[in-house]
Amino acid sequence: MTTTPATGIAVLSDQQRCKLDESDDALFYAEPRFVQHLDGGFRSRLTELYRERIPPCAVVLDLMSSWVSHLPDDVTYEEVIGHGLNAAELQANPRLDRHWLQNLNTDQQLPLADASVDATLIVAGWQYLQQPEAIAAELLRITRPAGQVVVSFSNRMFFTKAPQIWTDGSDRDHLAYVAEVLTAQGWQLDRLVTEDTRAEGPLGWLGGKGDPFFSVIAVKPSP
Ligand SMILES: C[S@@+](CC[C@H](N)C(=O)[O-])C[C@H]1O[C@@H](n2cnc3c(N)ncnc32)[C@H](O)[C@@H]1O
Repeated sequence: MTTTPATGIAVLSDQQRCKLDESDDALFYAEPRFVQHLDGGFRSRLTELYRERIPPCAVVLDLMSSWVSHLPDDVTYEEVIGHGLNAAELQANPRLDRHWLQNLNTDQQLPLADASVDATLIVAGWQYLQQPEAIAAELLRITRPAGQVVVSFSNRMFFTKAPQIWTDGSDRDHLAYVAEVLTAQGWQLDRLVTEDTRAEGPLGWLGGKGDPFFSVIAVKPSP
């Protein structure tokens, strides 16, 4: 396995990496949270996007995962690798073939070989990265040519755990920021998705909106 770590081209200032709660993130995630962080409308849209983008033969990495991966139930992938901070959540995730625990704010080197993954998914996680450039560079290293990264999020966060670049920004700023970090490391921007979703149940029938859906999709250029 080749693991010469990629360090990344800096985009953020030191101040933009600061967050209100600088205590160890592993403590914050020590207790499992068997909850959905995003509403049903958002999750349906995400699963639809995955169905459209990720072929069954893919090796998939669900980075910053939990007990759910939002992949379509009826599609079997070559392998789904999970990463996160809570062992009980990852063990309970039925989509994962294997997983590992790692605090990405203290160690950015991913324990995966060069060009070994086809698609990396990050859902409601990027907003907690303090060294996103190194992560984006590492993802480029482990991704096969023409492989992709799909970074999805809504307008919610654990405020004290998100760095200033995220807490100070609007939805539009978040999209631009994720795209900028990825492209600075050599990813090619493929698609930005910004959509409203419909609330679940009677509220949705009346036109009520659910969690807004944002996704930044980038591909690794072929040599
Ligand atoms: C809001 S949850 C989203 C979980 C999952 N992707 C989902 O869709 O339900 C945020 C996740 O980010 C990950 N995370 C947050 N801070 C992290 C850190 N410092 N290092 C590694 N992972 C972290 C954890 O896996 C945590 O479960």
